[in-house]
Amino acid sequence: MIGKSIKKIAVSTLVALTVSPAVFAADANAQIEDILSQLTLEEKAGQLNLVDFGGEITEERYQLIREGKIGSVLKSNGAAQNLKLQKVALEQSRAGVPILFQEDVIHGYRTIAPVPLAEAASWDLAAIRQSAAVAAREAAAGGVQLTYAPMVDISRDPRWGRILEAAGEDPYLSSLIAAARVKGFQESGSDKQNILATVKHFAGYGDTVAGRDYSISDLSERELQEIHLPPFKAAVDADVAAVMVAYTAHDGIPLTANEYMVQDVLQKQLGFKGLIMTDWETIPNLSETGVTANDEEGVLVAINNDIHMDMQSQKYVELLPQLVRDGKVSIDVVDDAVRKVLRLKQRAGLLDDPLGRFDVDLEKQELLSKENIAATKDIALKSMVLLKNDEQLLPLSLADKKVAVIGPFAKADRDLIGWWPGLGRAEEVTTIWDGLQQEFGPKTDFTHAPGVSIDRFKKVGKELIPQAVKAAEDADVVVMVLGEQFWMSGEGGGTASLHLPGLQEELLAAVAETGKPIVTVIVAGRPYVLTEVAEHSDALLMAWMPGTTGGTAVAEILSGKFNPQGKLPITFPYHQGQVPIFYNHKMTSHVYAPGLTEDRYTTTHRDVQHEPLYPFGYGLSYTNYQYGDIKLSNSKMSMDSTIEASIKVTNTGKVAGHEVVQLYVHDKVASVTQPVKLLKDFSIVDLKPGESKNVTFTLSAEKLSFIGRNYKPTIEAGDFKLFIGASSANVKESAFTLTK
Ligand code: GLC
Repeated sequence: MIGKSIKKIAVSTLVALTVSPAVFAADANAQIEDILSQLTLEEKAGQLNLVDFGGEITEERYQLIREGKIGSVLKSNGAAQNLKLQKVALEQSRAGVPILFQEDVIHGYRTIAPVPLAEAASWDLAAIRQSAAVAAREAAAGGVQLTYAPMVDISRDPRWGRILEAAGEDPYLSSLIAAARVKGFQESGSDKQNILATVKHFAGYGDTVAGRDYSISDLSERELQEIHLPPFKAAVDADVAAVMVAYTAHDGIPLTANEYMVQDVLQKQLGFKGLIMTDWETIPNLSETGVTANDEEGVLVAINNDIHMDMQSQKYVELLPQLVRDGKVSIDVVDDAVRKVLRLKQRAGLLDDPLGRFDVDLEKQELLSKENIAATKDIALKSMVLLKNDEQLLPLSLADKKVAVIGPFAKADRDLIGWWPGLGRAEEVTTIWDGLQQEFGPKTDFTHAPGVSIDRFKKVGKELIPQAVKAAEDADVVVMVLGEQFWMSGEGGGTASLHLPGLQEELLAAVAETGKPIVTVIVAGRPYVLTEVAEHSDALLMAWMPGTTGGTAVAEILSGKFNPQGKLPITFPYHQGQVPIFYNHKMTSHVYAPGLTEDRYTTTHRDVQHEPLYPFGYGLSYTNYQYGDIKLSNSKMSMDSTIEASIKVTNTGKVAGHEVVQLYVHDKVASVTQPVKLLKDFSIVDLKPGESKNVTFTLSAEKLSFIGRNYKPTIEAGDFKLFIGASSANVKESAFTLTK
């Protein structure tokens, strides 16, 4: 029984560990080879099988484990349940290979953090890493060893429901965040507090046409290399344990079957050496897509394309043994896939300590711990973006005031934890209504009116509007809470309209007729078109889907206890017809410039403003920041030197705050058209009222690298513009030359 031999080997490995890494590596390989050598062909196929164990664990499922047909499971949670399943694998199956427990811990396990796009709005890499570490601690305590995160699919199309799962439109920011999340999951705790990360969905999924999920994505090689690959490279460089391929196709070939992408790009170009898994049933999807005639072909194509693990379709466990016996698949290919799985289990600590990760007492201590709640509230506060604050309406002082809290999301709980809620529970969420009561206390008289109801996308609930208007008339100030329900975004959550669902805009317009001051809070995972919402609101806060502590965070921002610091990681369109609209678009001829309206021959729309409603990098504060002029250490830089760019930032307001100072560059002449601006660095600077700080960035030639005509990283001498400012559209400008 391998189970017994695992323990024996474990001792020798521990001994080796104290000797030297080289010996340890040799012994680690020996451990894997020893297990592999004892597996039957069926058991090898079983190790490649990843099956959904959500819900009741039936006798049939136990039997699959006993027969050695289950290598890993997903959606089975809880230390007690997973310990029980592990014991069945170790003691009742012939081979006794431990199960690897996997889960969608996307932004929290039980304490749910803001959705990833919201976390990206914090630009705070330490806080983002800490958030992943909290998720890892809780998941590990819940008997999970691997998560399907970070999702790093760059998208510029808010119609795509999954835009909330990644880190926005910019490759540089997305890459830094991808690495922070991988390290947060894999390296921030002790061995038993970490979980393995899976970067997904390789690659280009975010380009799915018109935001329709699983649809056609037809990227150019340049777009792939410049925009979509960098965060995957960052995750691989951060030693991510696994990669999940996307549902979509690249260049007409589904990723599961795409040799160029999986062999040449992922493994050769990016150097990934770990385990590659399908997404849900993407092996049979190959026949659905029509690139294979049947599932035997699908299995043959996938296993020969280094797809090591089959999520949920069970085609590997059903069909591989016979394909090997028929000589259609080499046993060496199967063995290599099994080695990847065993290496993953070894890295998860399961081969040396298969029962040591299912501690019910630790689970009780860890889930929803004070520390985890506090860390989650921290990132929630930092993720929210103040979009408008006319007449400094915010922060609110509400003592002895009447406040009408209006809108279908004022008391929402489940909607605050999004499409991937992990084990988060609606009843554990602090709603915005509750948060306001707790923050402002009994001296404030709060009334609530839903205003409209939400029934899918239908425009229902008009009859509720008069009651809401009355509540507003009777109040001193109105807090509107509008947005989308959790199921309206996330996987399969494509939307054609980017207006708030239902009659919410009509509700706001009716309430605005009262003339009362209005603060609008948006609970949503995607950048809706908020043009009309902004027009009717004196203050506007993007709360995103803020997680378990969301109501507390919103209230602490509205009260001024926390000065908002978030900056948009994604452009908010002025009109849905502008989509896709993003800051780092390529330079063109016929460039639009304000005031050129009589010149029709420019690249813009004639019926709406050219600019987005809110640009990438935008976000207000309760204080104001003044930027001095850019000072360069030199106006020329050679390939092997650097330039320092500095700027003085002053807090000219009355409250302390954190400002995300951003540095962008434009390459004026290059062999390939360049973006008008590209984020190259940023720094979060905290400033007391009246305080000034010099923010200095160091620019090197490799920061000016782009994908050349040969599709390789290229640096070309020439003139550059350099921008530093508070957003991509609010910058000071300078220039320098890169010499040969
Ligand atoms: C889903 C998603 C993927 C997720 C997996 C397991 O369809 O595409 O992101 O991790 O299946 O739930």
